[in-house]
Amino acid sequence: MQFCESSDSTPAPQFITYDSLNLRLAPEHSLWSHVLWNSSKFIYKLINDNRISVENKSVYELGCGCALPSIASVLNKAEYVVASEYPDQELLENIKFNLSQNIPADKMNNIEVHGHKWGEKMPERKFDLMFQADLVFNHTEHVNLVKEIKQCLKEDGQCHVVFSFHRPQYKQHDLQFFVACKQEGLKVEHKETIKMDRMFPEDDNIYEIGIREDVHWYTVTKQ
Ligand SMILES: C[S@@+](CC[C@H](N)C(=O)[O-])C[C@H]1O[C@@H](n2cnc3c(N)ncnc32)[C@H](O)[C@@H]1O
Repeated sequence: MQFCESSDSTPAPQFITYDSLNLRLAPEHSLWSHVLWNSSKFIYKLINDNRISVENKSVYELGCGCALPSIASVLNKAEYVVASEYPDQELLENIKFNLSQNIPADKMNNIEVHGHKWGEKMPERKFDLMFQADLVFNHTEHVNLVKEIKQCLKEDGQCHVVFSFHRPQYKQHDLQFFVACKQEGLKVEHKETIKMDRMFPEDDNIYEIGIREDVHWYTVTKQ
C-alpha cells in the first residue's frame, strides 16, 4: 500500500472490466478512490444474487469510488440511487463517466452523483438502503459515518457495511465503528464473511495473508 513517486506526466487512465461492466479507475488519490475494492465487488454480487434486494428501493452509497454497487443498484431496478463521493472534481467526473458507460440512457434519471464530505451537506431525503464499502479503516471518520446512517437511513432501512482488515494490527480500531454505532442506539448484525484474493499482495512480507483475504459483511439498522 505504497504510493508511487509523483511525476510530471499525467498517467493514462486505467480501465478494467468487471463482470460485464466497463469501469474507469480514478487517477491515483490519497483517499484510495483509485482502486476497486473487494468490498464493492462483494456488494455487487449480493445485489446481483438478490441477497440484497434493491428493486424499487432508494439507495445511498457513501465513498463510492468506481460506483460499482450504485451501478448494480440501477441495473437491478432500484427506484433511485445517490452515488456519493468526496467532493473532488476528478473523482466525481470519473463516477459520471462510469455511469455513462454502464447505465442505459433511459435509466440515467434514476441516479445522481453527489459530492460531499461525510457528515456534511448530507442528502435531505431518507433511504431504504445504504452502502459503505471499505470505509471503516478511516478511524477518525467513524463519527461522521455513523452520523450519515442516523440522518439518512429510514427507520426500517438497512445500511450494508463491508470491509477487510487490510492492516491487521488495526483490526480493533476498524471494529470500533460498530461500537460507535451501538453507542448511538443502532443495531449491528454480522451477516457473513467470505474469502477473496487479498487486495495488496505486496504487503505479504509485512502482514499475515489469511486475515486480509476475509471480506466481512455487516448490517446496521435502526430497529
Ligand atoms: C477504500 S476507498 C473505497 C471505495 C469504494 N467504496 C470501493 O469499495 O471500491 C474509500 C472511499 O471513501 C472516499 N472518502 C474517503 N474519505 C472521505 C470523506 N471524508 N468524505 C467522503 N468520501 C470519502 C474515498 O474517496 C474513496 O472513494
